Amino acid sequence: MKIKKLFVCSNCGHNAAKWEGKCPTCNEWNTYHEEDVTPVSKTEKKKEIWNGKSKTANKPILIQDVQHNETRRLQLPDREFNRTLGGGLVAGSITLLGGEPGIGKSTLLLQLALGSNLNVLYVSGEESPQQIKMRAERIGIRNHECRILSETDLNRILKQANTLQPQLIVIDSIQTLTSPSVDSIAGSITQVRECTSGLQAFAKETQIPVILIGHINKEGSIAGPKILEHIVDTVLQFEGDRNHIYRILRTKKNRFGSTDEMGIYAMQVQGLRQVENPSELLLSQSDQALSGSAVASTVEGIRPMLIETQALVSQAIYGNPQRSVTGFDLRRLSMLLAVLEKRAGLFFGQNDVFMNIAGGIKVQDTATDLAIISALISSLHDSPISPKISFTGEIGLTGEIRAVNRIELRIEEATRLGFETLYLSKYNMKSLSGKKYEIELKPMTKIEDLVEQLFS
Ligand code: TYD
Ligand code: MG
Repeated sequence: MKIKKLFVCSNCGHNAAKWEGKCPTCNEWNTYHEEDVTPVSKTEKKKEIWNGKSKTANKPILIQDVQHNETRRLQLPDREFNRTLGGGLVAGSITLLGGEPGIGKSTLLLQLALGSNLNVLYVSGEESPQQIKMRAERIGIRNHECRILSETDLNRILKQANTLQPQLIVIDSIQTLTSPSVDSIAGSITQVRECTSGLQAFAKETQIPVILIGHINKEGSIAGPKILEHIVDTVLQFEGDRNHIYRILRTKKNRFGSTDEMGIYAMQVQGLRQVENPSELLLSQSDQALSGSAVASTVEGIRPMLIETQALVSQAIYGNPQRSVTGFDLRRLSMLLAVLEKRAGLFFGQNDVFMNIAGGIKVQDTATDLAIISALISSLHDSPISPKISFTGEIGLTGEIRAVNRIELRIEEATRLGFETLYLSKYNMKSLSGKKYEIELKPMTKIEDLVEQLFS
């Protein structure tokens, strides 16, 4: 058969017969790669791709006549995971778990498979059964109905799954699978799309939920990717710093629940442990006031967390002053430094600035701003902030301290952890009128108020 070459956009999967500098559908530059696509004849394709029970054509139904049964959800032996999914794994759904290599995706899913009493098929195209056994021994094997299949051919996997009829299928990873109906290499856009569609058809028909592992590329999106995110029902992201023990499981898309939920884990010698009270771990244990440290009352999703932010401002010795951050957006730090300079007359132009969020956690909540500028000013003046103070507030470009969402949740968490004072935006006070709190609330409107109250 003649081999056909196609150019495929690695971002959105659009293809064309000739190379293009800019993708006409997603407008990304330099995303076209050449792929061999051998077309398979129609009859052959029918035979090859999964064909289970013959389908009857669907007819339009009146919405009031649609039979709706309560979504069946499979409870997994992991509270954090169930919570992130919005209450368990929905029957017949496809979930994609993305994350950087080595972050712990395989560990997390193997642990789920081994901790349940479900009949699980764990398909690995990356590791041999022996390697998986070694890992399983570290985690502890409790499930005697977990089967390992080392296979990369989609059709053979589906055949095995069909005879076995497991309650859950795990694929590690989607980038290693190949479908014989297209002839390009494993991990290419065409293969990833084809295999995911095949698995989805299987899952919908048999009502067996499937979890796919997907690797993330350097830019942080799941390799092979946007198209994959559109096909699957749920996209989970496993993130964290490999040098730290904490990992966060976030929902990027969820057809069966909210995307506000998240799970927190700690990577230990015997696998991942669920973390119930993240604040208690993320705060440093020292009672001493140290300069450059301020505690932020943040909310990730709907979970309140108190996080220590740390700043080090020092004299720049060599040429250009450095700016370096971990767990926070570098551009946001530059913005905060500019605001401090323009609105509060504090100059960092001759200083190196290092910023760090304790625990290696990545924060997305902009209410962290107030703690960060406090840490910066504290380090600049070498003036410690009492460890009994916490902060919550977003900084605007004009130097105003803006109101944040879920303020009551933040106040409660700070109170629960024994903080005595919470600095916040004055605009948050309206919604709190008349309520009494144990913690002292210090409302402010602009950065100058903070400098005056805390550092004068
Ligand atoms: P892994 O699940 O292989 O990552 P991924 O599938 O996302 O590529 O995790 C690998 C890391 O986890 C590895 O560096 C070792 C560490 N690890 C532990 O610390 N404790 C454990 O019990 C296990 C199984 C792994
Ligand atoms: Mg792995």
